[in-house]
Amino acid sequence: MLEVIILAAGKGTRMRSNTPKVLHTLAGKSFLQHVIDRTADLGADKIHVVVGHGAQMVKQSLQGQDINYVQQTEQLGTGHAVKQVLDHLDPSSKTLILYGDVPLTKASTLQKLIDHPTATSMGLLTVNLANPKGYGRIVRDGMRVKAIVEQKDASAQQLEINEVNTGVMAVSTQHLLKWLPKLKNDNAQGEYYLTDIIAMSDAEGIEIKTAQPDEEHEVLGVNNRIQQAELERIHQKALANELMVNGVTLLDPSRIDIRGCLSAGKDCVIDVNCVFQGDVVLGDGVYIGANCVITQATIGDHTHIKEFSHIEDARLKQHCIVGPYARLRPKTELSDNVKIGNFVEIKKAHIGEGSKVNHLSYIGDAQLGKGVNVGAGSITCNYDGVNKHQTIINDGVFIGSNSVMIAPVEIGGHSFTAAGSTISSSVPSGQLAVARAKQRNIEGWVRPKKDDK
Ligand code: UD1
Ligand code: CA
Repeated sequence: MLEVIILAAGKGTRMRSNTPKVLHTLAGKSFLQHVIDRTADLGADKIHVVVGHGAQMVKQSLQGQDINYVQQTEQLGTGHAVKQVLDHLDPSSKTLILYGDVPLTKASTLQKLIDHPTATSMGLLTVNLANPKGYGRIVRDGMRVKAIVEQKDASAQQLEINEVNTGVMAVSTQHLLKWLPKLKNDNAQGEYYLTDIIAMSDAEGIEIKTAQPDEEHEVLGVNNRIQQAELERIHQKALANELMVNGVTLLDPSRIDIRGCLSAGKDCVIDVNCVFQGDVVLGDGVYIGANCVITQATIGDHTHIKEFSHIEDARLKQHCIVGPYARLRPKTELSDNVKIGNFVEIKKAHIGEGSKVNHLSYIGDAQLGKGVNVGAGSITCNYDGVNKHQTIINDGVFIGSNSVMIAPVEIGGHSFTAAGSTISSSVPSGQLAVARAKQRNIEGWVRPKKDDK
């Protein structure tokens, strides 16, 4: 049985924030949630999160997940934090210890450690850093790991060591139960260091087996917003590379942000400064112009989203053209070959095959059939101040420019509305609805003159 302890009680003073550090985000997801998601990939049986600073907020953010919270009222060190969990552990299990502020450790890296906790060995994830400052140093005798010495307690000679503690350990729970009560706080920081169990392990002849991550960034922790931004870039670069490997062209891989899961078919092209949020699925040959924000959407093959468009919770089929400057709001559905032009807003509406809404329109709470043409500036007037109502526009309708459809209203198939009409009652099929004041031309009209004064 594998138990995971995630330390998340620290305040994160250097973030200078009212939000606990572990709730700050990377790629739109909290550091802590990143760590929890990795443990799911590992098949952990139980997850214990040690909370302290902002405990309520932390629990709130993880609502609905199967997690055992353990309160650490005073933050007396990493060893003290793990000690709070002892009563909750099954003594026959293995325990993996992770930090809530190290978001990017891969499951494959953690996997390298989880066979090591036995009666005669434990696992420790270390890394060699060009600049090891601030980290606990791994003290070896030959190959054998003897101890971890924290930066503030290290001798000048120990400070020269480049191999450092990442914080990730895998230990048999039996050993934790034995060692943690023996920790002392007689060190430079007056804390109970978890890292002191390494010397205990060695003293008992329990071998410390080390592993290293594939990539250095996997073990970087976040202490301030500069490190947060650096890690975000590293992560985005990795996501961008993954897309390119899978056949997507990114016109500049350093200018894309994926805050969720973006999947794409073959030969998609994504121009610069696009943001993808939640689950976004692109078919084959999709083009996304510069500066688009796309959230929770499915976009069919060969659909073309032009610059500066904003799409949220929408389903688009194939060969559509959207934008520039289009806004597709929740529950928008576009059938094949639909065209949505500039400054058009669509909400909770189905647009049938081959229909066009090309300029300056609002279509909300509506059903449009096939081959409908909505002229410039036309809108559905869907809200009466209290309730929302439906507009139904049937196949082949031509809506003249600047028409207002006052819902509930239905426009019959192949009918027309004259430009500038206010359509307040339904239009039968095949007819022309004219609902505007008739034009008068005044003969002999004279232009007003300026006053004398
Ligand atoms: C720790 C390690 C150090 C390692 C480094 C890697 C110890 C003594 N030192 O140092 O060897 O190189 O991480 O990043 O373990 N926390 C609690 N309760 C506490 C104290 C800390 O939950 O009482 C949590 C923090 O919220 C954080 C994690 O433990 O998520 C690490 O604590 P931090 O104080 O950042 O440890 P470091 O000094 O960085
Ligand atoms: Ca730290």
